[in-house]
Amino acid sequence: MRKQHYILLLPVLLAFGVYSCKREAPLPVKSSFLATPVKPSDVFPASFGMPLIPKDNPLTEEGIYLGRMLFYDPVLSLDSSISCASCHRQEFAFGDPKTLSKGVFGLQGTRNAPPLYNLAWQRTFFWDARQRRLRDLVFEPIQDHREMAMNVIRLEEKLRKLDRYQIAFRKAFGEEPNLHHMSLAMEQFLMTIVSANSKFDQFFPRNLNAFSPQERDGFLLFNGTPDSTTRPAIGADCFHCHGGVHAQAIDPSIGIVSNGLDDVLTDKGYGNITGKASDLGKFKSPSLRNLVYTAPYMHDGRFTTLEQVIDHYSDNLKFNAPNLSPQLNHGNLHLQLTAAQKSALIAFLKTMTDSSLLTNKAYSNPFR
Ligand code: HEC
Ligand code: HEC
Repeated sequence: MRKQHYILLLPVLLAFGVYSCKREAPLPVKSSFLATPVKPSDVFPASFGMPLIPKDNPLTEEGIYLGRMLFYDPVLSLDSSISCASCHRQEFAFGDPKTLSKGVFGLQGTRNAPPLYNLAWQRTFFWDARQRRLRDLVFEPIQDHREMAMNVIRLEEKLRKLDRYQIAFRKAFGEEPNLHHMSLAMEQFLMTIVSANSKFDQFFPRNLNAFSPQERDGFLLFNGTPDSTTRPAIGADCFHCHGGVHAQAIDPSIGIVSNGLDDVLTDKGYGNITGKASDLGKFKSPSLRNLVYTAPYMHDGRFTTLEQVIDHYSDNLKFNAPNLSPQLNHGNLHLQLTAAQKSALIAFLKTMTDSSLLTNKAYSNPFR
């Protein structure tokens, strides 16, 4: 009786064995436990403080590498022509020198591609702060019809057909390619892009000797507050929105503001996300690191030079701009900075230049 049972079971067991072999055979089996952990302190500089790393997505060498492959791979787009790196170019601090980037079929969006670095510390993403998690964010460019125009179901199939991804996904997560792990791997890679190697970093927080006299003047202007009557102003007050080691107000309650570009809005910014009139024309304050590489400036890339940016804050602010930050409206009087003050501000901004970001092999195209 017992014997018979075993005999009956045998074909079932065999079939199951064969089936599972067929699925897994050509590639290394379940290896999630083998992925090599990366110590956050090896990636993130102490001067920045530790960022919050999502508990369910610890950094691993294999995960980061997979994310890097995906970032540089045009297979993520409809016609395999555009990768994330087409618009986020390492030689421009992962920004795009074009005012508006080109996606599939040469289509264009309405905003300038921001540079990508120190994202691990950021709390919101996109100019209008509409995303909070990198793993969610990646699906936007992939599916945007003007960017990569890819159907995600189709993308999963595409990835599964490629040996390089069958191997890399298993090494990182122990499973065959799937969208969830794709987004986690990209989150890992994006988090590891760090820029912390500039003259400014030798200064931070208070070694003023690292600066030339002109840079020092610029620094003091940047961090000084104007009074409401003295002109040219004695302080340019940039630090409220671009202060600290990140040169950026990261806290969304401080950093999402209007900096007075337009009286009449063509882009509602954050107001479009919240639906509130009190958020119209507000945008996320960007980091001012690496500006030398990241022209053109502002959400629509309207300024091509830093001189134009400084002229905006000094002389051209629109006091009637909806929701203009009170930080920028000093009694409806323009700052009227002198030419020397403007040059000093720019000299200081340039101390936040990190050329090593542009050549760091850890972030470069792994297919070359
Ligand atoms: C066709 C050009 C293009 C492609 C391709 C593209 N991006 Fe972007 N990216 C942009 C633009 C433009 C923005 C700003 C959009 C906005 O704010 O509404 C942006 C914003 C971002 C941001 C937000 C940065 C910040 O500081 O808030 C991240 C992160 C990002 N992209 C990552 C990616 C990743 C990852 C990919 C590939 C999956 C990708 N991008 C593909 C153009 C592109
Ligand atoms: C009240 C907050 C606030 C203050 C104060 C402020 N900014 Fe900004 N800054 C912003 C916001 C918001 C943006 C993005 C606006 C947009 O694109 O619509 C921005 C954008 C910029 C950019 C463009 C960066 C890029 O990557 O495109 C530069 C450069 C800049 N600011 C420099 C300065 C300087 C210099 C000062 C001082 C004179 C200053 N800011 C004061 C909020 C502020």
